[in-house]
Amino acid sequence: MKFLLAFIFGLLLISQVSCRNDEDSELVKYVFTTFFQRNIDQFDNPVLTQMAKTFLKNEVLENKNSTITEQVMKLQQNVQGEGFSTNLCQQCQSFYNSILSLNLTKYGQELTHIIQFGCSILKIETPLICFGAVGEMAPSVLQGFANRYLNPLYVCPSLGMCPPYYHNLNVTAIAQNIIKDTPQVKRPTPTLKKTFKFLHMSDLHFDGLYLEGANAQCTVPDCCRVTSGKPNDESAKAGYWGYIGDCDIPFRTVEAAIRYIKNNLADEIDFIIWTGDNTNHYIWEQSYQSNTDQTTRIVDLLKSELPNINVFPITGNHESFPVNVYDYFGDHENKQNDIFATSWEQWIGKEAAEEYRQNGFYSSLITKYSQPLRIIAINTQAGNGQNWYLIQNPTDPKDQLKWLKNTLQQAELKNEKVFIIGHMPIGDTLEEWAQIYTALIQRYSNIIISQFYGHTHNEQIAVFRNLGTNEINNVMFITGSLTTYGGQNPSFKIFEADFETMLPINYTQYAMNLTYYNENKIRDINKVIFEKTYDFNSYYGYDDMSNFENIQDFLGKLRTDLNTQNKYHLVQDALANPTNLTQVTLGYYCDTFTTPAAQSICLGQPYKKDIVTELFGTWYSHNPDDMLFD
Ligand SMILES: *[C@@H]1O[C@H](CO)[C@@H](O)[C@H](O)[C@H]1NC(C)=O
Ligand SMILES: *[C@@H]1O[C@H](CO)[C@@H](O)[C@H](O)[C@H]1NC(C)=O
Ligand SMILES: *[C@@H]1O[C@H](CO)[C@@H](O)[C@H](O)[C@H]1NC(C)=O
Ligand SMILES: *[C@@H]1O[C@H](CO)[C@@H](O)[C@H](O)[C@H]1NC(C)=O
Ligand SMILES: *[C@@H]1O[C@H](CO)[C@@H](O)[C@H](O)[C@H]1NC(C)=O
Ligand SMILES: *[C@@H]1O[C@H](CO)[C@@H](O)[C@H](O)[C@H]1NC(C)=O
Repeated sequence: MKFLLAFIFGLLLISQVSCRNDEDSELVKYVFTTFFQRNIDQFDNPVLTQMAKTFLKNEVLENKNSTITEQVMKLQQNVQGEGFSTNLCQQCQSFYNSILSLNLTKYGQELTHIIQFGCSILKIETPLICFGAVGEMAPSVLQGFANRYLNPLYVCPSLGMCPPYYHNLNVTAIAQNIIKDTPQVKRPTPTLKKTFKFLHMSDLHFDGLYLEGANAQCTVPDCCRVTSGKPNDESAKAGYWGYIGDCDIPFRTVEAAIRYIKNNLADEIDFIIWTGDNTNHYIWEQSYQSNTDQTTRIVDLLKSELPNINVFPITGNHESFPVNVYDYFGDHENKQNDIFATSWEQWIGKEAAEEYRQNGFYSSLITKYSQPLRIIAINTQAGNGQNWYLIQNPTDPKDQLKWLKNTLQQAELKNEKVFIIGHMPIGDTLEEWAQIYTALIQRYSNIIISQFYGHTHNEQIAVFRNLGTNEINNVMFITGSLTTYGGQNPSFKIFEADFETMLPINYTQYAMNLTYYNENKIRDINKVIFEKTYDFNSYYGYDDMSNFENIQDFLGKLRTDLNTQNKYHLVQDALANPTNLTQVTLGYYCDTFTTPAAQSICLGQPYKKDIVTELFGTWYSHNPDDMLFD
């Protein structure tokens, strides 16, 4: 939201300030004018609306003499007069084609500067971030924006100058089509004759430049570096192992966690799920290379400390550069995928590595249980509402959801069971992507055992419910972070699953009491203990968390029972913040829904997309009846 405000304000400024004389600038001005004219009703922010109105007034009404304005007027008169005319349509198309063929890089650089100034002057972020992160992002925003909104096939019909070319797809209808032949299969009951265990860790976010003793309460979003200055008092001092607040952890804390696993848990676990976000939150001073190196450093550590344990990794939104911005066809992305594919191959297998290299997602098979177990690793950048590349086309990027459907279909035919892993919980992704993902989970809930995600830094669960009936069909376990960024103790989870059905029946959270190790000056990584903080069954009073009746019961309590909410709250950040809530809140319960719209409705608020999300628009296709997943 902040970035978008900065962006739009930047557009306004550049149009007024820097484009004065040459003809190209006039064209650019025209394009933005058109955009604001078309979208002014959709800005639900009064300041923005006022800015847009002022802009239009200056450009369209007062600047009547400009050749461009004449052109606009002429075009508009023609539209009112005669509807679509081939001539007009061609005029419009060649006009926008000529704009698209402008060297946008040139404007990209100007725009970037203006956006940076706008961001800084408006105090949208601190200057450091305006000039770093916003500067990094502006070119990709501009490119995505231009490719979509200046595309003649898109813009001319919406200006009423050409017949429709693209059609918005009815995603609800597509979702209903996906679930129409859902097999009615009773969920199995664990036999508990034998169980197995695996570990899930997420959001390691270490900071290679972390400095003990540095200021942990600085003025930018991430602190605890030499550049953060000196702390004002003891409570703002970066500890040896980390700081619970706005700092990422030093690498030694990652080492301590892996060492603890090596010394205490390695014998119990069969494999590790690792769901991304490995780099730090200094998002305004990164590069693709530095982000890639952070992951590689953890891979090397895992390989040397736990040589006999397979890890199933997937990247998060922070592996991208700039953060969140991921182009499925980009050179940097391809290069990073190649590096990760090579380093993960010994864990996930050759075929999966090749799949990841090509696509940025993969599936891999484990054959040691009663049935083959397929791990499907989803790349959630395809649904990330801050991935500006998706502005040009948010419709199932890289056909990942189609691939997911095919992979699940094959798994069903081959009598496999499935774990899905990914970074960003689906309730946090774009509505359309979330709806289709949710429909696929319902359709294949006969074989999907469970899902394992991260991103929020908090222990949470998300619950997939059947469309219409709300009956539970699947559970996603969201694991807290190893980083303290946001206010948690470092933690990970161990799941226990039934060998026969592969259903996870219980999990245990392990957390490091960061304060204790900092205060007691314990500096030996071999002495750091990740204690069991709780296990789901004992803590909430159930015998088996794979039983949906228990989950249903738990949801009921999470919705209305203060005591359950307090318990949930306490372990969410691994005991870092042991305060009690004084009244029941709906938030914890509503967060368990798996699309933004469903969450919103749960809170009693009609779902409305914000401006950023509006920019992405809905899924579209040239064929209005495209069902995509048939
Ligand atoms: C518009 O442009 C013409 C010449 O192109 C000039 O004579 C006239 O004064 C201009 N009008 C205004 C209002 O600037
Ligand atoms: C586009 O503009 C940029 C910056 O002004 C310049 O570096 C680049 O060479 C230009 N590209 C083309 C194809 O003219
Ligand atoms: C989309 O499809 C659903 C289900 O078929 C239907 O109820 C709804 O009216 C459709 N929406 C639009 C905008 O056509
Ligand atoms: C963590 O350690 C601190 C300092 O020793 C202690 O005060 C606190 O109670 C501990 N927290 C938990 C959850 O054990
Ligand atoms: C859950 O796991 C813990 C171990 O972490 C164990 O002590 C407990 O008995 C388990 N509960 C059930 C019901 O399996
Ligand atoms: C929170 O409430 C629980 C009982 O619901 C109680 O056992 C616990 O001590 C309280 N914690 C704090 C910090 O007040």
